[in-house]
Amino acid sequence: MKNNPKIIIRDDPDLLAKEAAKLFSEAALKSISMKGIFTVAVSGGTTPRHMHSLLAKEPHISKIPWDKTHIFWVDERCVSYAHTHSNYGAAEEDLISKIPIPDANVHPMPVEPLPETGSDKYQDTLIEFFELKQGMLPRFDLIVLGIGTDGHTASLFPGQRALDEKEKLVVSVKGGNPDVSRLTMTLPVLNNAMEVLFLVSGEQKADTLKTILENEHALFPAQRVQAVNGTLKWLIDREAASKLPSRCNF
Ligand code: 6PG
Repeated sequence: MKNNPKIIIRDDPDLLAKEAAKLFSEAALKSISMKGIFTVAVSGGTTPRHMHSLLAKEPHISKIPWDKTHIFWVDERCVSYAHTHSNYGAAEEDLISKIPIPDANVHPMPVEPLPETGSDKYQDTLIEFFELKQGMLPRFDLIVLGIGTDGHTASLFPGQRALDEKEKLVVSVKGGNPDVSRLTMTLPVLNNAMEVLFLVSGEQKADTLKTILENEHALFPAQRVQAVNGTLKWLIDREAASKLPSRCNF
């Protein structure tokens, strides 16, 4: 990979979630002490759910200044927030409903009858919040991502046009599992973050992870997240790391 990532391995999914919550908390405190605000974009899927639950408990819940924290979503499935497939819905249940965060600090992706309307609206949300002028990109303090066995990240799937998007901050796509319309932040946004943290758990991701970290010609979507002006961390559990060379096992 071009930007040498930091690889952190934990023994099991529980320890992975614990470390992820710690890194989230540290990023929040660091950003808030430096500039009074913390902006984070979170992903969907199952892996971040445990981290979200831990953030809603001690020691994190009372340590993080939630009133200075703004939570955005990296991607969303176009289903109602009440649906089990909703990324916002899951985070609402695990985290948002349990922490003292003002409503105005929570920025879910809108679910519209036309996905393109939703992506345009969320792009406007980003432009307004980050006060972006033409051609500027938002700079999140932290973006938390996952990967699929096909190498996707966010809702950026192999072979799709969205991967080559250079202008838009958010686009609509169709695909993945569940195979529904989705909204996703684009690579320029992901790559402009101060810190990108990938969370990867489970033996079924081991081959994909090995390819992503070791074969730069594979061109999986997740490999195109390089955090060019920031830091890139891969937080992995032992099963997901099982195909990596032993020098990575720390
Ligand atoms: C989504 C995602 C997606 C996810 C990975 C990993 O909404 O589907 O944001 O990119 O992070 O598919 O998902 P798991 O954590 O469920 O393996």
